Amino acid sequence: MPKLNENYLNVQDSYLFAEIARRVKAYEEQYPDKAEDVIRLGIGDVTRPLTKTAAASLHEAVDMQTSQETFRGYGPEQGYGFVREAVAEYYRRNGITVDAEEVFISDGAKSDTGNITELFAKDNVILVPDPVYPVYVDTNTMDGKHIIYMNGTEDNDFLPMPDDSVKADIIYLCSPNNPTGACYNKEQLQAWVDYALKNEAVILFDSAYEAFISEPGLPRSIYAVEGAEKCAVEFCSLSKTAGFTGTRFSYTVVPKELVFTVSNGRQMSLRDMWNRRQSTKFNGTPYIIQYAAAAVLSGEGMKECMENISYYMKNARMIAETLRRKGISFTGGVNSPYIWFKCPKGMESWEFFDYLLQNAQIVGTPGAGFGVNGKNHFRLTSLGTHEKTKEAMERFEKLF
Ligand code: MLT
Repeated sequence: MPKLNENYLNVQDSYLFAEIARRVKAYEEQYPDKAEDVIRLGIGDVTRPLTKTAAASLHEAVDMQTSQETFRGYGPEQGYGFVREAVAEYYRRNGITVDAEEVFISDGAKSDTGNITELFAKDNVILVPDPVYPVYVDTNTMDGKHIIYMNGTEDNDFLPMPDDSVKADIIYLCSPNNPTGACYNKEQLQAWVDYALKNEAVILFDSAYEAFISEPGLPRSIYAVEGAEKCAVEFCSLSKTAGFTGTRFSYTVVPKELVFTVSNGRQMSLRDMWNRRQSTKFNGTPYIIQYAAAAVLSGEGMKECMENISYYMKNARMIAETLRRKGISFTGGVNSPYIWFKCPKGMESWEFFDYLLQNAQIVGTPGAGFGVNGKNHFRLTSLGTHEKTKEAMERFEKLF
C-alpha cells in the first residue's frame, strides 16, 4: 500500500476559491431564477479582454508556429532569451537592475510560489503574514513545514513589521498585499531586508500587483531596496497586469547572489537549484504566450495595460466611495485592485458571504480564507466591469 503524504490532512478540504465557486454553484442551483443576477467580485479575475498588442502578437506567433520556417518545438525550460530580456528591460524602465539570466519564465506566480518550497528543507521556520494569499500556507502545509504567523491588523495598517525576537528562515511578503491592498513603503521593506540579512533568512516576495501602485515613491519591487539581491526572490505575473489570468505568464527573479553554505561546507546557489528543478519538472511556457508577453512588456504594450488598470481603479473608487458613505472602514483600492473591509453588523466573514450572496447576489471573498485575522473582514475585487460593479454597489447600498 502506498504511504500517502498525510500533510494533506492539514489543509482545508478545498482551496479557498474552489470552495467559493462550489457555494455559488449550489446557490445558483437552488435559486435558478437568481442565477443571472449573480455578480462575481470574489476571485481576482480580470474582465477586460486582451490588449491590441497582446492579440496581434498572439496571432503573429500562431502564424509562426504554422510555418515550416518559423515553427518551434520545445523551448528552453527557463524561457526564451528574448522574453527574459524583455522582463529585465521592464525592470530597467522602473529603475531596477535585474540580469536576464536571473529571470525564469513560468505559467503563474501561483505555481512558482508553491513550487519553490521544494528548494527548502523541511526544518525551516516559515514566517507568513496573516491575512495573506492562501497559497503560501497551503503549499508549506502540504510539505509539512513549520509555519509561524505575523499579524496584519488595523493596528499596524495590515503591514506587519519584523520582530527581532522571532527567528525565521523563510519569509513571505506580498506587497501590494493580497487581500488587504496595503502596500509597504521603502523604509518598511528596508527593515525586512535588514532583518533577513541579519538572520540569514530568505524573503519570498510576491509583487503580482506592482502595476497597480499609484502612489509615488512606493516600491514596485523588493529590489528597489538596498541589499535585497542578497536575500530575496521575487515573483511577478502578467495575470492582473495584462489580463493574462487565462493566458498564463509569470516570471520569477532568483538573484545569482543567493548562495548558501550547506553541509561539508559546500556552496549551493538558489538560482542553480531553481534552474535544475524547472528543467526537470517544467517544459516551459508556450512559445506563443512568451512571444505575446514580450510585446506586452514593451513600453507601448504596457501603456495599453495601464489603461485597463485605470479602468479597474475607477471601479475601486466606486467601491471605496460606497463603503465610505456607509461608514465601513476599509483598506486597499489605491495601490491594489482589492478592497478589504470590516464586515457590517458584526458578522463573521463566511456569514457575511452568505448574507451578501442571498440578499444582494454579490459574490465576495470571506476574509477568514486568508487567515484568522480575516475572520471579520471581507474582500471585494475591482477587476469586474463598470456596469456590474455599479450595480453591485447599488445593491450593497440598499442592503445596508
Ligand atoms: C485571488 O483572487 O486572490 C487570486 O488572484 C486568485 C488566485 O490566483 O488563486
